[in-house]
Amino acid sequence: MAESHLLQHLSFLLFLSVLTFAQNETHFIYNGFKGANLHLDGLADIRSNGLLQLTNTSQQQSGHVFYPQPVKLNATRSFSTSFVFAMYPDIEAHGGHGLAFVISSSMNFDHAVPAEYLGLFNTTNNNLQSNHIFAVEFDTVQNAVFGDIDGNHVGIDINSLTSIVSASAAYIDDKEQTNKTLELTSRKAMQVWIDYDGDEKLMNVSIAPLKNSKPTKPLLSTHLNLSSVLLNSMFVGFSGSTGITANEHYLLGWSWSQIGQAQGFNFDVLPPLPKVIKQKRNLETLLIVLIVVFVLLLVLIAGVAYLLRRKMFEEVKEPWENEYSSHRFSFKDLYFATKGFKDSELLGSGGFGKVYKGLLPNTETQVAIKRVSHDSRQGMREFVAEIVSMGRLRHRNLIQLLGYCRRKGELLLVYDYMPNGSLDKVLFRSSDFSCNPSWSQRMNIMKGVASALLYLHEEWEQVVLHRDVKASNVLLDADMNAKLGDFGLARLYDHGSNPRSTNIVGTVGYLAPELSITGKPTPATDVFAFGVFLLEVACGKQPFRLLNFDGEDMILVEWVFDCWKKGDVLQTSDPKLGGYYIDEEMELVLKLGLHCSHPKPEIRPTMRQAVQFLQKDAVLPDVPSDYDLERNGLFDDCWGVSASFPSSFQVSANTFFTDNSIRHHGR
Ligand SMILES: *[C@@H]1O[C@H](CO)[C@@H](O)[C@H](O)[C@H]1NC(C)=O
Ligand SMILES: *[C@@H]1O[C@H](CO)[C@@H](O)[C@H](O)[C@H]1NC(C)=O
Ligand SMILES: *[C@@H]1O[C@H](CO)[C@@H](O)[C@H](O)[C@H]1NC(C)=O
Ligand SMILES: *[C@@H]1O[C@H](CO)[C@@H](O)[C@H](O)[C@H]1NC(C)=O
Ligand SMILES: *[C@@H]1O[C@H](CO)[C@@H](O)[C@H](O)[C@H]1NC(C)=O
Ligand SMILES: *[C@@H]1O[C@H](CO)[C@@H](O)[C@H](O)[C@H]1NC(C)=O
Repeated sequence: MAESHLLQHLSFLLFLSVLTFAQNETHFIYNGFKGANLHLDGLADIRSNGLLQLTNTSQQQSGHVFYPQPVKLNATRSFSTSFVFAMYPDIEAHGGHGLAFVISSSMNFDHAVPAEYLGLFNTTNNNLQSNHIFAVEFDTVQNAVFGDIDGNHVGIDINSLTSIVSASAAYIDDKEQTNKTLELTSRKAMQVWIDYDGDEKLMNVSIAPLKNSKPTKPLLSTHLNLSSVLLNSMFVGFSGSTGITANEHYLLGWSWSQIGQAQGFNFDVLPPLPKVIKQKRNLETLLIVLIVVFVLLLVLIAGVAYLLRRKMFEEVKEPWENEYSSHRFSFKDLYFATKGFKDSELLGSGGFGKVYKGLLPNTETQVAIKRVSHDSRQGMREFVAEIVSMGRLRHRNLIQLLGYCRRKGELLLVYDYMPNGSLDKVLFRSSDFSCNPSWSQRMNIMKGVASALLYLHEEWEQVVLHRDVKASNVLLDADMNAKLGDFGLARLYDHGSNPRSTNIVGTVGYLAPELSITGKPTPATDVFAFGVFLLEVACGKQPFRLLNFDGEDMILVEWVFDCWKKGDVLQTSDPKLGGYYIDEEMELVLKLGLHCSHPKPEIRPTMRQAVQFLQKDAVLPDVPSDYDLERNGLFDDCWGVSASFPSSFQVSANTFFTDNSIRHHGR
């Protein structure tokens, strides 16, 4: 008996538990959806952490979730529900379209349209009484067709997308008593309360940020008779949809009750929302990218310009040159001094290179800049040392070398500028007789050149050979004083060449005959050229291609010697002088010219002697008679060369400096 009693008890307990189960359908709660048995369709999905995702950002899609069994509403249709949601827009503040809490007679929304239809209706069934759909929409796009008030509102819908009543998403903060707007697509979790009192026929809808208490005053509160809309048995759930723009719609928890207030959430166990990856605003991103590209481009252009400029003004400077830094000019200065080596600044060009007039930017001094092309690095050190030491040469009849600059394959020499140009210009090429130098000026010039050569040969600390004495290498200052230029430059061509063969440097017509045999320049070879120079100045004729009185092709030295032999050396004097000269001086100069240009080097005087003869401090002996004999041998061999270089002389006759220089290898 006791056992049957127990059995009765047991069966009663069993009955009670079944009742409880049945009662469960009148209320349920999901604090997260982990393992929940729900009806899902479309994009809807439950994540492993319990987060329910209604839609992702795929466009023109929808997703639904429903409690799998229908709920049985009593005659009053009263219910209470609450849920937590969040919306993640794909474009900041411009997501679409929204989500809705739904009570529906069916879970089948296959024919429903996404976007503004929220996955609830389509064009044909919108507004039909037969739908039996009640919804509370959370709409993030304003749609004029359905009378939407804005793009961020809450509305109550019955069988239609045109809300019966709606309001912008907001809540009244109970503490501050102020109305606060909520941005639905703010990626923040929000809680919603929907309560329907079927007796009072009163529908209340409230929304607030998560963890806020339920606002005392609902956002929407309206009288509704849902008797005919809601049936006894209804499905409850959610719909979310996306359009051209999209939101990720998330549900974190859901509570439902037909018997009094829906249960509150345990916030501690709600699933976390996805981390907000700071999406950069497209326009901002574009702007930033553009700015970065622009800046990079500027940097690039500046870099290229800098490199080009560096390349343009690039110099060669080796460590050993540091000791000559005071003699060094920067290429940049020389470049700007000559206006970029403009043709208009060109003073002349010839064998050694081009000469430009320049105005140094810092000191405003006028200079002549010679660009000598030179490829050899070998021997450069010695040469620069020499150039710099020559910069220390000081003589009133020498052109002052101011300094140098080196670039790849190029050497630039900076000299004092001589405004009156070179002697050969006034001697041979000026048609203006008024600027033709007088005899006393010529004597002064010849004495000046002689004294400069004496200084180079004997008076300086080392012997410097000029190696290219000629009228075109003698420049004139404003007072018609002679300034010998271009000394020592020939050495550049010695250094770095094959040591077994020495280049002969100089100008045809001024080359001593022994040079073609020995190839070795000596003070005597300078004296030879000086002799030719004296005859040039006295006769006013260039030393080659000369027609004598009989119309024969002769050279200057031969002609003067012939006339001297005939006892009438004065007839060779420059007719442009018009006879205004002192006979003794003219004869002295012509005889000294012949002496100096003697084919035998040992017969030529030294520069010291030559100066003494010119100063009349010593008496010049007679011209040696073996002059003639010698000439037929060595001399012709040497002078014969001249015939093949007329054009070169033609060009170089215009030069400011010398540069009739012709190089040939010594034999
Ligand atoms: C959204 O989800 C669907 C189905 O799960 C998937 O095919 C699609 O690639 C997803 N779209 C995006 C943008 O993640
Ligand atoms: C609209 O939906 C209803 C059912 O919900 C369906 O019968 C009808 O064919 C749909 N209309 C269109 C145009 O899809
Ligand atoms: C609806 O809100 C009003 C206040 O606006 C309140 O008096 C009423 O009790 C609420 N009803 C329900 C069912 O929450
Ligand atoms: C509610 O609607 C039903 C059916 O449409 C009707 O029978 C009932 O009288 C209405 N109740 C109120 C209070 O209006
Ligand atoms: C319907 O349910 C509510 C509670 O949810 C209750 O107050 C009401 O009395 C019920 N009405 C009927 C007719 O069962
Ligand atoms: C030399 O320069 C001076 C002054 O600059 C000038 O008066 C004179 O005419 C010039 N002579 C020649 C030959 O150019």
